[in-house]
Amino acid sequence: MSDPSDLPRLLVQHAAACPFDPPDELARLRAERPVTPMIYPGGHEGWLVTEHALVREVLADPRFSHRAELLRNPLPGASLSAEPRPAPPGAFTAMDPPEHTRYRRLLTGQFTVRRMRRWTTRIEEIAAELLTAMERHGPPADLVEMFAGPLPGLVICELLGVPTGDREEFVRGMSVLGRLDVPAGEKMAAFGKMQSFMLDLVRAKRERPTDDLLGGLIDSSDLTDGELAVIGGILTGAGFDTTANMIALGVFALLDHPAQLAALRSDPALIGNAVEELLRYLSIIPATVRAALEDVELGGELIKAGQSVTVSVPAANRDPKHFPDPGTLDLRRPTSAHVAFGHGVHQCLGQQLARVEMQVAIPALFDRFPSLRLAVPPEEVPTREDMMIYGVHSLPVTWDLPREE
Ligand code: HEM
Repeated sequence: MSDPSDLPRLLVQHAAACPFDPPDELARLRAERPVTPMIYPGGHEGWLVTEHALVREVLADPRFSHRAELLRNPLPGASLSAEPRPAPPGAFTAMDPPEHTRYRRLLTGQFTVRRMRRWTTRIEEIAAELLTAMERHGPPADLVEMFAGPLPGLVICELLGVPTGDREEFVRGMSVLGRLDVPAGEKMAAFGKMQSFMLDLVRAKRERPTDDLLGGLIDSSDLTDGELAVIGGILTGAGFDTTANMIALGVFALLDHPAQLAALRSDPALIGNAVEELLRYLSIIPATVRAALEDVELGGELIKAGQSVTVSVPAANRDPKHFPDPGTLDLRRPTSAHVAFGHGVHQCLGQQLARVEMQVAIPALFDRFPSLRLAVPPEEVPTREDMMIYGVHSLPVTWDLPREE
């Protein structure tokens, strides 16, 4: 059994033999002690949960809090600060109900059917434009740089109404925040820059109303400029790197499983389930953490009030008790109750948008480049074990050019 102080590192590692598989040790823990003691990077004594049913239990139980001032960082070097600190006004993701509920309702109200439809059309247009640029560039190309990265970045800009001229700098600033290898001071500086950018954006929108999510929030709520800027930062942080990595790693997984890719190409209606299965199989968010508000018995262990409980998303999504033959990518399998978007009151706010992005991006890519393949051997694709969100740093791809007549 692993040393409890080795577990934080285990959360961001992958199996030596396969870039898509979590380390074998997580499966061993799930089978032997699914609620296991873990020493957090700051020395805090807490727990790690690896079984699907128990993970969902934790995420649905109001006795496990997501309040910022109680939370300990479970990943090596992941957060801006090692010590817990209160959430600033607007940082709803780090609040519990009823405070959390108030913000969440305001935000859900902005994901209207009309906006979703407009965003879908824009996602299709953005995907087509990026693919045209990639076609012009010619093979080989880095899929992360030319497609998987910019697409969600531009979609977030669209959602928040970031002016076209500011988009590139905005997206570049964002990418620093998810790194585990960037010193805290540098991250704080990038974070500060992002916040002041958001504040300027909100103030401009107050002056001149716009029909985007921030404009809608200004119109329909009494949120302050500071709260709105924090919310804008949260949506960017939560929606950019996640979707980019799901697209890039998803394409990598499909290229590595040609029979599955062929099944998808011959039956385009499979894309909805295919995206769910990719979310389950790849589980790019390694973990999320809660803090016990009182003593709680979980899986035969006693969690004491104040202790942190980390749930492993990949371990839950590969639990054979819920997903038979969990290590097999099967685009037709039932995927209900996967926890790639979390579970309970904090379940991903942007999940419908993320689904649409993936459902548009993946088929559009393979339609444009039917002969798409890796330009390097799979073991040379650089994976992101140094980041808060798993994926690939780059995905070198190539394709056949049309024959000249
Ligand atoms: C929450 C995953 C895309 C916004 C979450 C959580 C997960 C997740 C696991 C729950 C965290 C927890 O319980 O602590 C993903 C994945 C995505 C994705 C895998 C892409 C494939 C997006 C997008 C947006 C977004 C596109 C916004 C535009 C959020 C927000 C929360 C959240 C705001 C916090 C919700 C709350 O605390 O109430 N996401 N997400 N996510 N996600 Fe996503």
